[in-house]
Amino acid sequence: MSPYRYSTLAVHAGQHPDPLTGAVNVPVYLSSTFELTGIGSDRGWDYSRAGNPTRDRLETALAALEGGTSGHAFTSGMAAIAGLVAMLKTGDHVVCSRDVYAGTVRLFEQIVRGYGIAIEYVDTSDLKAVEAAMKPNTKLVHIETPSNPLMVLTDIAGVAKIAHAAGAEVSVDNTFLSPVLQSPLALGADIVMHSTTKYLNGHSDGLGGALIGSKPEHKERFLLVQKAAGGIMSPFECFLVLRGIKTMPLRVKQHEENGRAVAEYLSTHSKVTKLAYPGLKSHPQYDLAVKQQKGFGSMMSFELKSREEAAQFLGAIKIFLNAESLGGVESLASHSATTTHGSVSQEFRDAMGITEGRVRLSIGIEDKEDLIADLEQALGAV
Ligand SMILES: Cc1ncc(COP(=O)(O)O)c(C=O)c1O
Repeated sequence: MSPYRYSTLAVHAGQHPDPLTGAVNVPVYLSSTFELTGIGSDRGWDYSRAGNPTRDRLETALAALEGGTSGHAFTSGMAAIAGLVAMLKTGDHVVCSRDVYAGTVRLFEQIVRGYGIAIEYVDTSDLKAVEAAMKPNTKLVHIETPSNPLMVLTDIAGVAKIAHAAGAEVSVDNTFLSPVLQSPLALGADIVMHSTTKYLNGHSDGLGGALIGSKPEHKERFLLVQKAAGGIMSPFECFLVLRGIKTMPLRVKQHEENGRAVAEYLSTHSKVTKLAYPGLKSHPQYDLAVKQQKGFGSMMSFELKSREEAAQFLGAIKIFLNAESLGGVESLASHSATTTHGSVSQEFRDAMGITEGRVRLSIGIEDKEDLIADLEQALGAV
């Protein structure tokens, strides 16, 4: 346990001055290989796929921010999820939140299933359904909470109890809330996953992913995956994420303040239905959000009547950008059925409840009055 509070950790964990020069920022070690000190001896690094000083610093910061024992940086969020499942074996069974990022479903269905690993999609907001899905060969329960884009919450502590009783581990995709607003390991999860592309980088200028483990065997397993499969984050991207992390608590505070204000505004608009934001008392899992999260975040989605209405709205926004992704300083709006969930079948979307009129918002750190005015005029064009 670190003696420091969160913003202090964000600025300093892994980010001590460079021992060689005193540089206060972590240097970008653009070296694929390192001079050895003899046969079989080195200064801590030999080849950058196995380890790089810039990446080490980021991995230290990630572990500290999630309260884990080791952090592992990958080239994208998807590479991190691929790393998460890389050590599963033929005959293993995975339970996955049904309401999950469609890229996760694409990886599981089009690649992982081919290795003879069974994957079952379950409404993990229903603990009884999770319990019913557990099998003797269930090795992993992978959950996303809040989920993408319907903001359905899963009780992390509840799932951990069920999974552990059945001998399985729990991994949580914590991308939507960032490490600032949710600590899955403290709630009993075993592994945390992030797309650092989102709030950790925070500026929409790089791709990255991370796994944070809670046990020595996770460190061993994920180091092997990094070294053997090679999907590691580049030193320059590590620098960008380290830089982003320093302001993450501040940014997330502003994202969240704006998110609450936008959700309040949208909740009263006559053209908006089925607004999903866990910070509204009308959200069916508001109490769980208060219990397990440290804030409500800045992601939300709502329904317009049709794909045409969604197109009119997206065509009219001026400050919000019609773009995929989330967690950057700029506000984004996207049509879920053709962007984040364009790669899953209509049947899968129907089962999830993603209609053609569903629009997702990632609220940035602009002035909230301007954001609300932009939404007002864009909804007026519908
Ligand atoms: C919740 C969630 N998990 C994982 C990913 C994949 O991350 P990346 O795009 O960095 O590969 C995304 C991307 O949008 C996401 O939203």
